[in-house]
Amino acid sequence: MLDVSFARSQFPALALPAYERGSFFENAGGSLACTQTIDALQRYYLETKVQPYAGYGPSAIAGEAMDDSRRRWAEALGVTPDEVQFGPSTSMNAYVLAQAFAASLGPGDEVVVTNQDHEANTGAIRRAVERAGATLREWRTEPITGLLSLDVLADLLGPRTRLVTMPHASNIVGQENDVAAAVALAHGVGARLVADGVSYTPHGFPDVAALDADIYLFSLYKTYSVHQGLMVTRNGILDELPNQGHVFNAALPSKRLTPAGPDHAQEAAAGAVLDYVELLHRHHGGTPDDGLRAASAAVSALWQAHETALVAPVLAWLASCPSVRLLGPGPADTGPLHRCPTVAFVPRDREPAEVAAELVARGVWCSAGHFYAYRVLQGLDVDPEQGVVRLSWVHYTSMADIERLLTALAQVLG
Ligand SMILES: Cc1ncc(COP(=O)(O)O)c(C=O)c1O
Repeated sequence: MLDVSFARSQFPALALPAYERGSFFENAGGSLACTQTIDALQRYYLETKVQPYAGYGPSAIAGEAMDDSRRRWAEALGVTPDEVQFGPSTSMNAYVLAQAFAASLGPGDEVVVTNQDHEANTGAIRRAVERAGATLREWRTEPITGLLSLDVLADLLGPRTRLVTMPHASNIVGQENDVAAAVALAHGVGARLVADGVSYTPHGFPDVAALDADIYLFSLYKTYSVHQGLMVTRNGILDELPNQGHVFNAALPSKRLTPAGPDHAQEAAAGAVLDYVELLHRHHGGTPDDGLRAASAAVSALWQAHETALVAPVLAWLASCPSVRLLGPGPADTGPLHRCPTVAFVPRDREPAEVAAELVARGVWCSAGHFYAYRVLQGLDVDPEQGVVRLSWVHYTSMADIERLLTALAQVLG
């Protein structure tokens, strides 16, 4: 069982008086940073804020720290360092990818996109498909649950399918999708698959090689780390897509699909969160010899068990409250994969923004809106301009936070 107090002790913000007066329920927008991340950033700015990769002391140390982040994230995700790229954000990484795909698609090619994705993993690729004169097929969510069905995907695939994009979990519906099964279907017709892991990875660092997605994207600022997007590119796709970086860097895997110059400090500090993962693993009986992949898997399991215990009473409360419509799976239908604690609901007779403000006044820090998931909401017949109230939490959220939430919900909506 996760030692939540120990986990919380690694997040210095949680010890600040302001964070005692409120409970942070907007983690899907960005998590708090662990102390290891904060220290690494500060260390970089203090000791090595010079051009990296030259021969002199601080420069060499800076370059080594950047390489180390890449190596360590590769190990945590079960891939090789050449398969890991850092970019300014997932939106930017996905945008550059769309430019690369646009150049390799043509009339007759088909691309499957979902309406469950955050706009980042669907808007740019939709435009790229249009530009290339290729055909777009939409993998639509079920209208009541907002879930994606693999049977629907299977029907959309064919010999002309070149690419499928999908979320590992939606930032509204919260349910983990079976990416490995979708990849198997896509690969079965010779298509590539891009998975957006932004909403899933705060709840677990996956074995990306086992999922076998050709591209896996996520945002480190939601995983207790720095404000960068991490992109894994596998199965030779880097060589298939045209270089998007400077012409003389075409042979460098870390630069082909990330034309923005690297943010040295953030790249150097990006791996520090894995020190936190290792610390947590050792605290729960793991050993340093286990390695980062095993530590990540074990810690992810601890996080998820804790989150599952915390999500159950909230789903139960919302599902039985007549004045709201809970979106996504309720307590009875969460399935075998992780029900991420990203919980959205629509008040039946009130504005979501008004309800969010009343929750905030009671110390429940949340907000309302469409959260860039416009199409998911349309698929659920929710007006995106009205939006939803979204509550999202992670492993450092305590049962006391959930009790504060349930009390506030009863006062505002009961
Ligand atoms: C599911 C999902 N995908 C993509 C993004 C975009 O990530 P970034 O802010 O790094 O561009 C977000 C951001 O909230 C998200 O929730």
